[in-house]
Amino acid sequence: MTNAAVDRMLTVTLRVSRFTPKPERPGRRRGGSPFGSRSKSPFGADAGAGRTNRARGKRWTQDYTLDVHASDSVLDCLLAIKREQDPSLAFRYSCGHGMCGSDAVAINGTPTLLCTAKVRDWVRPDTPGFVGDDGFRPTGEPVDADAHALDLDALDPDTTLVIELAALPGFPTQRDLIADIDPMLDQIRKLEPYLKAAGELQVTDEGKINAFEYLQNPEQLARYELLSNCIACGVCEGSCPVYAGGDAFIGPAAMIAASRFINDSRDNATASRLTALMEPDGARACQSVRACSMHCPKGIDVGEELWQTIQKVDAARVSSEAE
Ligand code: SF4
Ligand code: FES
Repeated sequence: MTNAAVDRMLTVTLRVSRFTPKPERPGRRRGGSPFGSRSKSPFGADAGAGRTNRARGKRWTQDYTLDVHASDSVLDCLLAIKREQDPSLAFRYSCGHGMCGSDAVAINGTPTLLCTAKVRDWVRPDTPGFVGDDGFRPTGEPVDADAHALDLDALDPDTTLVIELAALPGFPTQRDLIADIDPMLDQIRKLEPYLKAAGELQVTDEGKINAFEYLQNPEQLARYELLSNCIACGVCEGSCPVYAGGDAFIGPAAMIAASRFINDSRDNATASRLTALMEPDGARACQSVRACSMHCPKGIDVGEELWQTIQKVDAARVSSEAE
């Protein structure tokens, strides 16, 4: 693609799956997966409570056509629509540059972040049925899902270009492009994602307090440093067909949070962290589909990390059974 193509002006239609929830009746609980049952999770007393079937409300698809630079982000497009066409369109973002993880959605059926997705990488010719109502691309049809393959230089100027947007799959939709990620955050919290270290008081040769440190060498840091970059965006969860089943699986993001501390040489709670992952919705629920690895915005090979952790959980189980 030439430099001119990279930043040329394009007329693009954003095809947005919209949703307005029905007003809640007093006393009704909110949140939860649209797929899960009201069952208690082994990871918490009330993890499944409040989970209902698909949220009720009005669903429709709305097209917004606008002129944009090919180098604009999809978030830029939505902000322009909100300013100039439809202030009622709901989406979530914060940092605008891939740091906060608040703006994960499905673009053309692929979970990813709005702010780092460039128009030039996601526009595609208008193809009916490219993305289903559930936000996923239908299977069975040989679809060229690699939007990067679109050659803007060779594009017929009359081609209608679209980008399809839906809320992050696998989570209940709160409104338009906003998914309720509370189930994921609850699951992460249950695995206690903070350092549990005894810490040793460091003293000088004279016995004076030097610093309160948790010492670690570069090799030890390297074992978990990448995992600590996880921004809990939920892209891996939105890609995971097992997580989309609801309470059956604690989910890749929670397991990455646990793995980050399991791999940290300063942490003293490895045994209890591994035990927590022995529950039925923990390591055993992962089916190693590895779709979670495909779009992590922080470059974490989520499936491989999960596999490494699953092996540690299995080893811990064998060892505890042998005792
Ligand atoms: S592992 Fe990657 S995709 Fe999953 S929540 Fe963390 S940053 Fe997002
Ligand atoms: S807005 Fe923060 S990651 Fe996209």
